[in-house]
Amino acid sequence: MKLSAKTKICLIIGDPVEHSLSPAMHNAGYEALGIDNQFVYLGARVKVKDVGIAIQAMRKMGIHGLTCTIPHKVAVIKYLDEIDETAKKIGAVNTVLNQKGKLIGFNTDWQGAVIPLEKITVLSDKKVMVLGAGGAARAVVFGLLKKRAKVKIFNRTKEKAMELTKEFNCLSGDLNNQEEIKDFDIIVNTTSVGMKPLEKETPISTKFISDKQIVFDIVYTPVETKLLREAKKRGAKIIHGIEMLLHQGMAQFEIYTGHKAPEKVMRRILYEKY
Ligand code: ATR
Repeated sequence: MKLSAKTKICLIIGDPVEHSLSPAMHNAGYEALGIDNQFVYLGARVKVKDVGIAIQAMRKMGIHGLTCTIPHKVAVIKYLDEIDETAKKIGAVNTVLNQKGKLIGFNTDWQGAVIPLEKITVLSDKKVMVLGAGGAARAVVFGLLKKRAKVKIFNRTKEKAMELTKEFNCLSGDLNNQEEIKDFDIIVNTTSVGMKPLEKETPISTKFISDKQIVFDIVYTPVETKLLREAKKRGAKIIHGIEMLLHQGMAQFEIYTGHKAPEKVMRRILYEKY
């Protein structure tokens, strides 16, 4: 046992949280770098109404890092001492660092969205169709625009797409006009369509998808959604949702430890567990 009273504690809070793979992913990273005596990563089930108390506990007990999942990403903001500019723009915090008693909120979800894409393409000037206009879409749209992609948002509830469009100064489209799918270089699904128990559905018709396109589905249960399976059959390049989970986690790992995250080890754990 390498843990001691000096070991820094990182926690993921959520409700529920038991299914989270963040502890396995981060602890595997600590072990690979030989810093598993310095850091340990656990989970705690915290109700939204108790987020303030959890943050107080973080202060009082000197907990080093706190990862927030839905629905805590917004609830946590008002209890922190500082929010970095990116997290402010996205309007959500998924990472809290305790820097000598000062609690600072960050958002690494946007990195989770853009890094997997940047591994296979240059985002600048690419036409991107974003499906969905909820919390996840905010981080995705922010990241894509930061990389100067041309973003068009499509959502079941059009008003929500238009609100996001106004805020981020991009375009919105109409899901009834499915032929438009052809015009995009990249399609990113941020909706829960395709996620269990909706795994037999796709958020758009796949008949207009071609081998010139990249399709990224941020859903990771199942690992390969119906949208990705059909896009692959049509020759498109696909990116699994696990890649977003991995890269937001890697960016977070670097904030918590100051070390470069070991990508291969962390990816292997995620694919093994799913
Ligand atoms: P998250 O934080 O994961 O993005 P959210 O904020 O609840 O979750 O957003 C869910 C997104 O998935 C929304 O864009 C939602 O569309 P609406 O704004 O119309 O609700 C979309 N979504 C969820 N279920 C859907 C379904 N069955 N068909 C189409 N879109 C769906």
